[in-house]
Amino acid sequence: MPVKILMVCLGNICRSPLAEGILQSKLPRNQFIVDSAGTGDWHVGRQPDSRSIAIAKSKGLDISRQRGRLFTAKDFETNDYIFVMDNSNYKDVMRLAPNAEAKSKVSLILNELFPDENVDVPDPYFGLEDGFSNVYGMLDEVCEIIAEKLIAKHQ
Ligand code: 4NP
Repeated sequence: MPVKILMVCLGNICRSPLAEGILQSKLPRNQFIVDSAGTGDWHVGRQPDSRSIAIAKSKGLDISRQRGRLFTAKDFETNDYIFVMDNSNYKDVMRLAPNAEAKSKVSLILNELFPDENVDVPDPYFGLEDGFSNVYGMLDEVCEIIAEKLIAKHQ
């Protein structure tokens, strides 16, 4: 059974699609399945934001086939690890967790890089283009650490 990892943000069009694409690119696809979802439903069924598609493309990653979907309580059953982008996502996801086991799957993604500091991946949606490049850099760095850990633990 492959290990399943879910990336979560608010809209599922800017940050979590990048996190999905970046982490999947660092893991063997037959053993690890990375997905993403949003806590808000405005962009369900939509492609990632064109600025996320563009920054990913500039790094050699195609995320254009992803489609937005809503995070639901079922995701606690179907995923082994749930990484959220910011503290607000953390609250929204934890509120839906049915039990302690579900809660234990959830963590703030940048805590893998800065343990216990609870740093947010900033939402680039309402900002300028360079926000996407900044977010890409952070996610690439943290996903490298996550990939190394997952491979060490599950192979
Ligand atoms: P994301 O960014 O959570 O990184 O996908 C956002 C995208 C859209 C909205 C908010 C955040 N929105 O309010 O529509």
